[in-house]
Parts: sequence; C-alpha cells; structure tokens
Amino acid sequence: TGDIKSKLPLFGKQVLVTAGPTYEAIDPVRFIGNHSSGKMGFALADELASLGADVTLVAGPTAQVCKYQSIKRINVTSAENMLQECLSYFPAADACVMCAAVADYTPVVVADQKIKKHDEGLNIELKKTTDILKTLGNQKRDGQVLVGFALETENEEEYAIAKLQKKNLDLIVLNSLNDAGAGFKNDTNKVTLIDRQLQKTTYALKDKAEVAHDICIKLTQLLKQ
Ligand code: CTP
Ligand code: CA
Repeated sequence: TGDIKSKLPLFGKQVLVTAGPTYEAIDPVRFIGNHSSGKMGFALADELASLGADVTLVAGPTAQVCKYQSIKRINVTSAENMLQECLSYFPAADACVMCAAVADYTPVVVADQKIKKHDEGLNIELKKTTDILKTLGNQKRDGQVLVGFALETENEEEYAIAKLQKKNLDLIVLNSLNDAGAGFKNDTNKVTLIDRQLQKTTYALKDKAEVAHDICIKLTQLLKQ
C-alpha cells in the first residue's frame, strides 16, 4: 500500500488544519463560545488525508471524530491555546487551512471562583484575541500555501477579498450565512473560492465532504505553483 499511497496527489505534504469553535473562560463554569460544529474542518482534514497528506488537526471543543487514524488531532480550548499549537506546527507545514471559528474577544480576567449573581447586571470586560491566521500570514515562507475562511452576512465578496489581502492568504473560502443550508450547523455548505489573482469560483450547495473536495482540488493546484 506504501506504493499506492505515494501516487496520491498530496503524498508527502504536511497540512495544518484548524476546526471548531474556541471557548473563552469567564469563570470555572462559564465561557464565551459560538455555534461552530467543526463539521467543515473535520471534512477538510478527512479529505486531505484521503489525498495522501500528513494532516495535523488543531480542534476546538467539538463532538466530531476523524475518519482517518493517520490524522494527528490536537484538542484545544481557547484562542490562545489554538495560537500556540498553530505556531508550533506552521513552520513545517506545506499548507495550512484555517477553518476554526476563533473567538475575536476573550475576558480580560478569568474569575478563579464561580461568579455569584447579584441584584445588578454584570459587565464582563473583553480584550481582542490574536488573529491566528494573520499571524501565520506574516510568517509565511515562499511556497507555503495559506487558506482562510470568511464568514459574512453582508458585502460578502468585498469583505472576503479584504481578509485575503490583509492576512496575506493564497485562497479564501467565502461562506455566506445568507444561503439556506449553508454555514455552521448544517451538513451542507455553499462557498465561493477567491484566490490572490481575485479569480472567483462559486459552487452549488452541497455536502460538506464535497465542499472539502472542491477546496482540496484548488489547494493541490496552488501547491504545484
Ligand atoms: N481567524 C483566526 N484568528 C482569529 C480570528 C479569525 O485565525 N482570532 C481566522 C478564521 O479561522 C478564518 C479567518 O480568520 O479563517 C476569518 O475569520 P472571520 O471571523 O470571518 O474574520 P475576522 O478577521 O475575525 O473578522 P470579522 O469577524 O470581524 O468578520
Ligand atoms: Ca471573527
């Protein structure tokens, strides 16, 4: 089987994938999170593995499981944990696909005891998290391929292109929440791929495994350039 594997299109390629949400602790029992299911990122990790890549999957809290035992899964909780794991695996990666729905804000202080309720309301002060994708974009070497996602509800293409450029990406996967059947919790997704030359391809609504396949075809082309 070693010989068969060596004929796969991504054989020998190291690919880093992030998936799922991050949880930002407020106190020992509460957190700020989001509705990401992790399905898209896990579908990508599985597709990449099926194409012969060596996949490292950095996953936030999710119930998803990988299909391939060869995938190296690293579980993380917070945006800061995810950043540290990505920083350690990125230098050796040929490609990186950042599918995770990373929290943009995290509490300034994490209470060490459960916060008790009082008669007044409660304000939680938040600070920005580090943009993992942008950090990797700044570190990117020649030949490394960096793919990001953009989740938008308005001015979709304009905002996606701005992210592609600002974060120094090779490809952005635009996920529009306006399409029925697309986005977080569904098994299906509808995406538009936009590359550095601003070449755009819009795909039909399909199963996340098939969307992962479309993304991997484009990624394989970019790795050859
Ligand atoms: N991302 C990241 N680290 C963060 C925030 C986002 O790596 N702290 C990555 C996501 O994994 C995704 C891309 O950046 O690949 C875009 O995420 P998105 O939330 O759509 O964009 P933001 O840049 O966070 O901007 P906004 O939420 O304001 O639209
Ligand atoms: Ca965000």
